[in-house]
Amino acid sequence: MSAVVAKFELPPLPYEMNALEPFMSKTTLEFHWGKHQRAYIDNLNKQISGTELESLKLEDIITKTYGGGNAQPSFNNAAQAWNHDFFFHSMTAKGGKAPSGDISGLINRDLGSYDNFVKEFKTAATTQFGSGWAWLSLKDGKLIVQKTANAVNPLVSGETPLLVLDVWEHAYYLDFQNRRPDYVETFLRELVNWDTVNARLETATAKL
Ligand SMILES: [Fe+2]
Repeated sequence: MSAVVAKFELPPLPYEMNALEPFMSKTTLEFHWGKHQRAYIDNLNKQISGTELESLKLEDIITKTYGGGNAQPSFNNAAQAWNHDFFFHSMTAKGGKAPSGDISGLINRDLGSYDNFVKEFKTAATTQFGSGWAWLSLKDGKLIVQKTANAVNPLVSGETPLLVLDVWEHAYYLDFQNRRPDYVETFLRELVNWDTVNARLETATAKL
């Protein structure tokens, strides 16, 4: 009898569990990373074990199983595994506020101003009905703010994501209860890792 080999492992957080306090609690990360993210990866490994998906990269599993919106069961776990790692790396202690670097110029060029980006991002994050995600992405070389429902991400529609905020209730309920707007505001003011966004932008533009 051969043992099931876990293809994907839980990626470590890029900071200590209490590093984002007081803006995101250790308890939130213990559940969000330690329970939710772990479950997405464990379930994905079970679903792809012994299938043709087993040999694919996570990004390829996501695009293949999306099926143009008629998703296979493994899509949700694959996309959630990817989205969460992207989200955890989108934050840092002493982050947030207006960015510097190339992303700053691009925000001014494509979205008018940082203040307008904040307005658009808050709207996307607070108007996503139910569970989902708010993104800053590149589409045809231009920045856009977008929102997606449940596990869907911009990879399936051909955009290149640069920044994401998880607006599932499990992301903020322990710290903010039902106050999603306060969570969004805190993310933008205190937690966004603009260095990572600039690095993602550099990688994306190098491919153009
Ligand atoms: Fe989440």
